[in-house]
Amino acid sequence: MAESTGYGLLNGKKGIIFGALDDRSIAWRIALACKREGAEFALSNAPIALRLGQLDALAEKTGAKIFPCDVSDNDDVEKMMDEVKKEYGSIDFILHAIGMSPNIRKKIEYTDLNYHFLSQTLDISAISLHKIIHYADNAGILNDGGSIVALTYIGAQRVFSKYSDMNDAKALLESIARNYGSRLAERGIRVNTVSQAPTRTSAGSGIKGFDAMYTFADKIAPLGNPDADECADYCVTLFSDLTRKVTMQNLYHDGGFVTAGISEDMINALAKIYGEEEGE
Ligand SMILES: NC(=O)c1ccc[n+]([C@@H]2O[C@H](COP(=O)([O-])OP(=O)(O)OC[C@H]3O[C@@H](n4cnc5c(N)ncnc54)[C@H](O)[C@@H]3O)[C@@H](O)[C@H]2O)c1
Repeated sequence: MAESTGYGLLNGKKGIIFGALDDRSIAWRIALACKREGAEFALSNAPIALRLGQLDALAEKTGAKIFPCDVSDNDDVEKMMDEVKKEYGSIDFILHAIGMSPNIRKKIEYTDLNYHFLSQTLDISAISLHKIIHYADNAGILNDGGSIVALTYIGAQRVFSKYSDMNDAKALLESIARNYGSRLAERGIRVNTVSQAPTRTSAGSGIKGFDAMYTFADKIAPLGNPDADECADYCVTLFSDLTRKVTMQNLYHDGGFVTAGISEDMINALAKIYGEEEGE
């Protein structure tokens, strides 16, 4: 799908895409899908990520302008929205694909969390959604009928031990999406979160035990794990006018993992490990 000509679902729409770092980033794949569907957009990431990543290549490929912004710095977010206004006027969609936990990076156990790091995790990974919407709205750039999507993970609802304080950050992120969504609904602006299955990206592979989490989800989900391009196709529908009445939702994009119990594959694999005869 990503390489095809698309459906023109976003013709005439403008947006901001936060969080593309390299070509594995889910935001990178979403940017390509938005371009395919006819959108024009700004790209944003933290200055350090711009130095280390490859965003110039994506900007060149999609005709996007880059706006450096560290979302933990309120002034940066405010300034960025003014610059987007000068360049693009107003916008119809925003993608929030930002996540970072210093506690996970430094391999600190959940029971020993460093609280300064925890506040950074919550600020960068969750409160930033509030800031982005707030400063975009203050700058007067949010068009009525627009759509805001933030990427999340099922750790918000269920405990995934290695996901540590990111479980808490995602719960807060989803709550902010609901609460802001209720306020923006009078202007027809939707705010949703997409709960994506484990996906091989820079942030994903920074989590200890990621491969096991990936395989577990893939074996349980009847449709298997969706990849980043499939997530991109789903997000495009949420930015489009086809989903005008979908708001304040946490939407699972996980091949059916969230409602599946156990798969035949998993039963047979566990039977082998624990020495149980198949069918017993
Ligand atoms: N990879 C997965 O398994 C998975 C699953 C579900 C949800 N998600 C979510 O998808 C989103 C994108 O992650 P990804 O997996 O594509 O990894 P990624 O590492 O490519 O993206 C994370 C992005 O956050 C940016 N970021 C970190 N600190 C920032 C700051 N202070 N200011 C601005 N940007 C900052 C990084 O530079 C990076 O571009 C995240 O919210 C992540 O939690 C990922």
